[in-house]
Formats: sequence, structure tokens, C-alpha cells
Amino acid sequence: MSVRRLAEDQFQPGAFSFSEENSAWADRTIKKYPEGRQQSAVIPLLMRAQEQEGWVTKAAIEKVADMLDMAYIRVLEVATFYTQFQLGPVGTRAHVQVCGTTPCMLRGAEDLIKVCKSKIHAQPFHRNAEGTLSWEEVECLGACVNAPMVMIGKDTYEDLSVERFEEIVDVFAAGKGAEIPVGPQIERIYSAPEGGLTSLTEEAPKTRSRAASKPVAAEAVSVPPSEAARPKSTDAETNPALKSPADNKTALPSDDPKAKPAKAANTAVGQAKPSLTDKNRPAGIEKPSTPDDLKMISGVGPKIEATLNELGIFTFAQIAGWKKAEREWADAYLNFRGRIERDDWVKQAKALAKGGEAEYIKVFGKKPR
Ligand code: FES
Repeated sequence: MSVRRLAEDQFQPGAFSFSEENSAWADRTIKKYPEGRQQSAVIPLLMRAQEQEGWVTKAAIEKVADMLDMAYIRVLEVATFYTQFQLGPVGTRAHVQVCGTTPCMLRGAEDLIKVCKSKIHAQPFHRNAEGTLSWEEVECLGACVNAPMVMIGKDTYEDLSVERFEEIVDVFAAGKGAEIPVGPQIERIYSAPEGGLTSLTEEAPKTRSRAASKPVAAEAVSVPPSEAARPKSTDAETNPALKSPADNKTALPSDDPKAKPAKAANTAVGQAKPSLTDKNRPAGIEKPSTPDDLKMISGVGPKIEATLNELGIFTFAQIAGWKKAEREWADAYLNFRGRIERDDWVKQAKALAKGGEAEYIKVFGKKPR
């Protein structure tokens, strides 16, 4: 956990005032609270000040304190307590907050921090050369089930691998962070089981992954505060970086098996879905009388198993024999962004094909799922 102090005087502006629009919003917000409880507006007002300026300045703290008739020290206490408030200048396109608490640490947060160090700056709270990115390590952000994760602006990016996180950092560096679907970055609905449902499988899920959801309101997409405060950047009509993933039709994978793969394979939005007639499509077979339980492979849930079956994949031996090009085809078809390699499906399938659960335990030291 970092020490949270106000930025040095050299960074502090002499004064702060809310813009006309924000000032009217602040008045309305303060009025929401009962008489005598106006101080409860301290957090929303500080957040709006941050959204306007990019970070919380000393002058903003004093202004908010004056508006709410609070001692400066009380507002300073709030601003320095919550890591959601930035106390110094941060990247104009993204300030990456990497969760470093135990579940995320056990699932690879240290590797994500290495990515921050190599792609942004060796030290937290320092901006990259262009001034567009910065990072810090924070405590639990409440998405432990999908560890490891990071927060950028008001959005979380979960179930991260090093490769996926590197892509995300690059996309934000290019000013296109709003194109990245928020939430889990793997085949998972919110915090439901990875790979699909493992119970109540007869029922169609009533929710959809946020990554695949309908257009998101412009104000709900991931925009770092300092960018959001700029009128030009808040206009989703004119600024493509702010368009929701669903608006960006050219980058979305096609559902049409005959469609040519989109150019931007493995982009932030997802991999282009390859054609079913592609030469690298793994060979399928007729359904055997006793197909293997593909769900024993870590990363395969009922939904993925059903998709594999539709492709004619029914046995461990088939997956064990996949060559690189076939693995890449399957990975792109399932929009897995490299997960087949990361989970090493081939090694898992080989063990299961050779000796079932006993062989799997011998190879991996644990039971298959
Ligand atoms: S431990 Fe990282 S989100 Fe909770």
C-alpha cells in the first residue's frame, strides 16, 4: 500500500473552481441530503472535481470543504483514504490500478505489475514519457473471484493474463481504451464459472457477459477522468475512441461462418472468428457412442463442450493431436485470446487420453475439474 500524500507544491494549481455545469450539478447533489447532512456530499463532489481536473488538487479539497462547511483536514482525510482519488497528476489516457491483495497476488498480480513497470514507468505514480499512462498498486477492488484484475478509471478488467493486459495497456496508450470490453477478459459471465455453467445447465442464462452486451452509454464506458473532462473526448459521435464496443462493428468478430476473418485479429475487442471452412479447422468426427467428458479439461465448461461437439470434437485424443495452427483456429473460434495455450489443453488432453483421471493427477498433481 502506498503512502497517500498531496502532490508537491510545484504541481498544485493556485485555485480551483467547478465549471458552470459541474457547479450546477454540485448544487443539486448537495440538496439531495437532508438538512444538516450536506457533508455527506463530500465524496461525490471530490469525485466530480477529479473528473474535471484529472486529479484531486489541494485547492479542490479546500473548495469542497468550503462548499460543505467542513474543516479542510476532514476533506483531506477523505481524499487521502480512498485510492479512488488521485492526489497527483496521472496519465491523461489511463491510470492503471493493479490490485495487489492476496487473491490477485496468488493469481499473477506481480506479473501485471511487471508489465506496468516495463510498459509505463519503473515507478508507480510516474507517468510514461508521453504523459498518457501511469500506474499504482492498490488493495482489493472487490473482484477477487476474477483475479487478477486492474481498475482503469471507473472500470475493471478482470481474469487477466500477462498477454491480455499488455494488449489493454497498448490500446489505452493509443487512446482507444473505450473499445475494450470491461469486466472478465475470458469466457465468463460476470463471476459465473469459467467456461460456462457447471450447474442448472438446462436453464438458459438470464444475463449476458458485459463484454458481449449491447451498446453502452457513452458516459458509462471507460474513460479516464482527465479525458472525460474534455468536451471533445466526451462526444461519442465525433470521437471514435469513445464509441462503445458494439458501435465499432468493423472490429467485432463475425457470427457468419462464411464471413472473412476481420483484419484486426486479436484486437482489444476480440479475435476475428475464423471460417468453418478454413483449412486449419481441427478435423471433426461422428459422435462416438461414448464421447469423452471434455469438461475434465480445465477451461472447458458445458457451453464450450457443446460448441466443441458442434465442431465434431468429442474425444481427448482429438484435442491431444491438435497442431499449432489448429489450436490457433480453435482459440480464435472460441474467442479465447490465447487461453488454449495458457491452459495447455493439449497437455491436459494427452494425459486424459492416456490414463484418465489417474494420469492427469500424475502429470498435474491435482484432479481434473
Ligand atoms: S484481491 Fe484483487 S480484487 Fe480482491
